[in-house]
Amino acid sequence: MPSSPPPSPSPSSLSISRHVAGVEYAIRDIIHYAKEQERKGNRVIYLNIGDPVLYGFGTPKHVKDAMVRAVLEDKNYYAESEGVRELREAIAERESAKGMHVVPEDVVVTNGVSEALDMIISSIAEPGDEVLVPGPCYPPYLSYARVRGVKPVEYATLEHEGWRIDMDDLRGKITGKTRAIFVINPNNPTGSILDEHTLEALVDTAVEHNLYLVCDEIYDRIVFDRFTSIGRYARDAPVVILNGFSKVYLMTGWRLGYICLNSNARSLDGLRASIGKLARLRLSANTPAQIAAIEALRGPQDHVDDMVSKLNARREYVMRRLDAMSGVNMYVKPRGAFYIFPRIDGSLGYSSDAEFVLDLLKSKNMLVVHGSGFGSMGYMHFRLVYLPSLDVLEDAMNRLEEFVGSHYR
Ligand SMILES: Cc1ncc(COP(=O)(O)O)c(C=O)c1O
Repeated sequence: MPSSPPPSPSPSSLSISRHVAGVEYAIRDIIHYAKEQERKGNRVIYLNIGDPVLYGFGTPKHVKDAMVRAVLEDKNYYAESEGVRELREAIAERESAKGMHVVPEDVVVTNGVSEALDMIISSIAEPGDEVLVPGPCYPPYLSYARVRGVKPVEYATLEHEGWRIDMDDLRGKITGKTRAIFVINPNNPTGSILDEHTLEALVDTAVEHNLYLVCDEIYDRIVFDRFTSIGRYARDAPVVILNGFSKVYLMTGWRLGYICLNSNARSLDGLRASIGKLARLRLSANTPAQIAAIEALRGPQDHVDDMVSKLNARREYVMRRLDAMSGVNMYVKPRGAFYIFPRIDGSLGYSSDAEFVLDLLKSKNMLVVHGSGFGSMGYMHFRLVYLPSLDVLEDAMNRLEEFVGSHYR
């Protein structure tokens, strides 16, 4: 994808870090092209960003009320750097119930999983080190590593086996420079869920090679199938779970996430100290949002079932429509999150996924994300977000059908 035209630096611009110059975020970078279509008077259907709140899944009322109360009661100060105590207790309970032993002292509340990821990468790796990330993978895993001068190395996942992690490939990519294995479960962009055998193998591999095992479980309750947390297999291994309130609790704009360290793992003592330092350095996460998050964890949970059942209907609809189309009907049934990741068949005549996505946007005003934006292993795929209501999805799938119909040979 040609990167969105950057505001070209003026000749007098001072230098910037070459690490940052290389940062890309496909999911948002492509919006520029959609805006261009809108300037020409076209109505664009956006299926690129995984924000449920934008698509009518509102933040639950009791959580909003708690946020408003916190603000009105003047709880607008900096919180403790590691997070509000009561929230850390509720998080420790939530994650312990999923399987890993987590005490509140091993929870650090962050401004989103995004900040958590940055804290982890900057704590565990030096410039020149490597981290293993899933291929394909949520793009910030690649970018946060690069910003720190760390090399993200993609391990293969097997599409024809439901995007199962290829453990042989992963093990073969461990070198003397590898510091961590990153896992996203359920995965963005594929919607796959890891089986228990793989979870166990991941823990064994991390222990055998003295690596951190960092698992992003931000979609842990947005699942259409059985989900098991890595925590079930963590024992006393160096397992770190990243999670947050954006997706399951519909709080994307409030920016709240957390890091949980396995409380049984003495090998995480260095990381405990490092994360604490970084937390203090950036003062605290958003205080009223933390108070609302206590309500999110302890209050009614009805919105989760409601969201999952609506998403299930949308997922089924999109799959049914894709099944009837030529050239994009190869996909793995997503089992979690709200993304589908079809393959772009050679019969459509495209030489790259970016070209397909741009052409779809220009001719049908429909925006999806090119698969290679999720790393090299996403090549010749695209990610479609099935969060919108069924009538919007129907419009989108009609456009896609016309588009592929006119290209299929
Ligand atoms: C796998 C994954 N991790 C993290 C995030 C971002 O989380 P947050 O909003 O907590 O920064 C996303 C958002 O799409 C995601 O898909």
